[in-house]
Amino acid sequence: MLIEIKNIYKIYNEGKESEVRALDGVTLSIDRGEFVAIIGASGSGKSTLMNILGCLDVPTYGDYILNGTDVTDRTDRQLAHIRNKEIGFIFQGYNLIPALTAYENVELPLIYQGISVFQRKERVMAALERVGMADRFGHRPSEMSGGQQQRVAIARAIATHPPIIMADEPTGALDSKTGKHVLEILHSLHEGGSTIILITHDNGIAATAHRIVRISDGHIVADGTREEVGF
Ligand SMILES: Nc1ncnc2c1ncn2[C@@H]1O[C@H](COP(=O)(O)OP(=O)(O)OP(=O)(O)O)[C@@H](O)[C@H]1O
Ligand SMILES: [Mg+2]
Repeated sequence: MLIEIKNIYKIYNEGKESEVRALDGVTLSIDRGEFVAIIGASGSGKSTLMNILGCLDVPTYGDYILNGTDVTDRTDRQLAHIRNKEIGFIFQGYNLIPALTAYENVELPLIYQGISVFQRKERVMAALERVGMADRFGHRPSEMSGGQQQRVAIARAIATHPPIIMADEPTGALDSKTGKHVLEILHSLHEGGSTIILITHDNGIAATAHRIVRISDGHIVADGTREEVGF
């Protein structure tokens, strides 16, 4: 199993009147090569779950085994290393660095990995090619459309060849045609062997996943194929 979380809780302000159980005992396993959509209402805990799966945040309680390694009690530094190696992230707001060009944004995670300048150039251009953005390598985010910025963000996510891609509402800020293009890129990465975890509000997008996990009030309330989950 690539991802295994057991009885995960994320509790804010525990024991106080303002306590929020963003995740309230979540157990979930994801195999290598799956394409999983996570759906649920606003505030149901989707981003909290992704942040924990992506080692961007740690649970209040519970265990997490990622790719055979127990990552539950790691330091921030160790988690940063695990993220850089295992996971490519795509966010609704792209999260590109405004002062850097498309090329430099995609290059950044490769610099963190200590990859040589020469190899970096190959990897950056290959990743930009993959999303059809090679001709815009010198553009800064402000000089690109939303869809183009998201494609550069995808190039950044895949440049390190991570086994897992996590996307939190990657099409949320895009028109439906551009969103469809981004979804096609995710499906082609999946066909290339990547494990995809995709958070979406959009049932049409979720319906293209092979497995759908529905979350409500911090609980998983359905998990299965489109037919099994019921839409
Ligand atoms: N830092 C925090 N402090 C307190 N409560 C928080 C914090 N972060 C998130 N929450 C709460 O945890 C719950 C889950 O939030 P989360 O962001 O995971 O929802 P979501 O399903 O991603 O929603 P959306 O679809 O709107 O993005 C919400 O009730 C939210 O208010
Ligand atoms: Mg969210």
